[in-house]
Amino acid sequence: MARFDEHGNDKVFSTAGRGATFAEVLARRLSRRGFVRSAAAASALAVTGPRLVPTAALAQDGTPAASPVATPGATPGATPAATPASTAVGVLGFEPITLDTGSEPVVAAGHRVTPLLRWGEPIMADAPEFDPENQTAVAQEMQFGYNPDWIGFFPLPQGSESSDNGLLVVNHEYTNPELMFPGYQEANPDYAPPAADDAPPDVPEFLTNPTQETVDVELAAHGLSVVEVRRNDAGEWEIVRDSRYNRRVTATTPMEVRGPAAGADLLKTSDDPDGRTVMGTINNCAGGVTPWGTVVSGEENFQQYFANLGAIAEDDPIYAMHDRFGFEAEASERRWEEFYDRFDLAKEPNEPFRFGWGVEFDPYDPESTPKKRTTLGRNKHEGHTSFVAPEGQVAIYSGDDERFEYAYKFVTAGSYDPNDRAANMDLLDEGTLHVARFNDDGTGDWLPLVQGEGPLTEANGFATQADVLINTRFAADAVGATKMDRPEDFETNPATGKVYLVCTNNSRRSLEETDRANPRPENLSGHIIEITEDGNDHAGTSFAWEMFLLAGDPANGATWFAGFDTEMVSPIASPDNITFDVDGNLWISTDGLPNTLEGNDGLFVVPTEGEERGYVRQFFSSVPGAEVSGPVFTPDNSALFTSVQHPAEGSSYEEPETRWPDGGDMPTRPSVVVIQATDPTARVGTVRG
Ligand code: FEO
Ligand code: CA
Ligand code: CA
Repeated sequence: MARFDEHGNDKVFSTAGRGATFAEVLARRLSRRGFVRSAAAASALAVTGPRLVPTAALAQDGTPAASPVATPGATPGATPAATPASTAVGVLGFEPITLDTGSEPVVAAGHRVTPLLRWGEPIMADAPEFDPENQTAVAQEMQFGYNPDWIGFFPLPQGSESSDNGLLVVNHEYTNPELMFPGYQEANPDYAPPAADDAPPDVPEFLTNPTQETVDVELAAHGLSVVEVRRNDAGEWEIVRDSRYNRRVTATTPMEVRGPAAGADLLKTSDDPDGRTVMGTINNCAGGVTPWGTVVSGEENFQQYFANLGAIAEDDPIYAMHDRFGFEAEASERRWEEFYDRFDLAKEPNEPFRFGWGVEFDPYDPESTPKKRTTLGRNKHEGHTSFVAPEGQVAIYSGDDERFEYAYKFVTAGSYDPNDRAANMDLLDEGTLHVARFNDDGTGDWLPLVQGEGPLTEANGFATQADVLINTRFAADAVGATKMDRPEDFETNPATGKVYLVCTNNSRRSLEETDRANPRPENLSGHIIEITEDGNDHAGTSFAWEMFLLAGDPANGATWFAGFDTEMVSPIASPDNITFDVDGNLWISTDGLPNTLEGNDGLFVVPTEGEERGYVRQFFSSVPGAEVSGPVFTPDNSALFTSVQHPAEGSSYEEPETRWPDGGDMPTRPSVVVIQATDPTARVGTVRG
């Protein structure tokens, strides 16, 4: 997600305090001073020291601390001799690119980028061609949706390791109607810039013109796409348009609610008095694949679709539940509530309880009904990558992407059976959700969120497990979990079993609020934490952790690249989504890099083990206004698919910042691109060009 304002604050994360109190302003000033001083200390540690948790350099008072925490398994002196980044070529074999602000994507030499799936691309045999001036919901339901985010590659035939043929399953996070529809947005003649930098404007800068048709197109442009793709004899990837698997899941597709919260009173609405059937999924951001080959897609910023929190009395218990997510007091930005009652809290106050879940479905069965798995808890879901524990239980890791929210792990009660796919299909309906506590000594605990245990009692508002799961954030508060800097993607390295948690940024953390797992005040650049489960048991409840990456410009900031020489690495900011290649190198896409660095969002890679651990190199740069998301490889790593999401965001249909990828008179089209080496059978990232 992006939608940043001119101060680099992401607009939809507006819950934690609109407007600053004097105390906050003071804290910010103090933290800025602390940040500058600690920056020098951190870079001194990074270039000279053994691998340490550098948070010691960022002590609460902003002064360097005397005794940094040694990291379990640290290898002192692993920093290789310095080589200028521009000429460095390591085991990954490509020449890093530099930050780029151009209007065309850039990729490392020896590789090429090809748009594969564009917004509006027909993906059904009888789908109409994309016609931006004459869009209909019926057409959009047969075309690729808007703003691709997470991508899963599901080999075909099912059960194979094919890298020539498969299903791409793609989340469509949200819509930018101002870039989708001619005449949707116009300048407001009454607008005047606010007097103070951080004051909200008195009147909106733009007026919008939603209609029944544009809203219906938007609903159809949300959700997911399932599209069969294959590599032809010339090595080019193409869409199999008449594939029986191709499918759209949208914001109106019926879904089943499963697990302890199914049928709960809070999930009941006029349309669904049983609280068990929801129309659609929205704001699908990161996602994951289960060992049995299903998708688990995360519903993230669902609050932005609902209007009129102000119509609910503040002493009504559901007011606080909704307010934790930051609903608008009055109209929503998209104004869907004018066309559908379910988006109006004044009319359907329970509808939002039906969103904010992990949604599982089987892409190999085009008739399968998506299931909202309430065992995974309700929050702004990200991640959902899985790992099978030694005893067969399956761990699903997920982040809750908001400032000061939490990192979670669900562990199934039952065991995965690799020989009986059908027996695994509802494994996610029973198990235990945990939330992470990162201790300052480099250990951590997975705290169970189970009704009746610890503070999760009826007296504290948790009468049932449904109460715990619907109000996961309150439950996590109660057990004392660690408040993180926007936990986003959360993935296990298949090569090592170590788990990586990406915290995108947090501009609002004060110096007093820092801890060793979130060590920087006003963390504009984000960081990545490496977790090693005790005994490599992903079903366990204790772990060790260390800081892997404190992103930023190593020339100017308090950064940390797992101890690697900061003079060699590429500047990086706002890490968001991650994936791994077959060697266990970590590939990182960014969302919000241009807020702190002079470049478009991009794709970076960093080894996690060996002498080049921490050696971040930039591989790909996208286009203005876009974030990069959802990177995923084919099994043989000969192709890398990634999303170029919301290009030109911040401009309008009439005057887009870019018309990539089509150019001419076409609107910009958010797209999945495929990156290949010039030799289409070579592994991406290993060739020099
Ligand atoms: Fe949709 Fe957390 O990014
Ligand atoms: Ca994201
Ligand atoms: Ca990922």
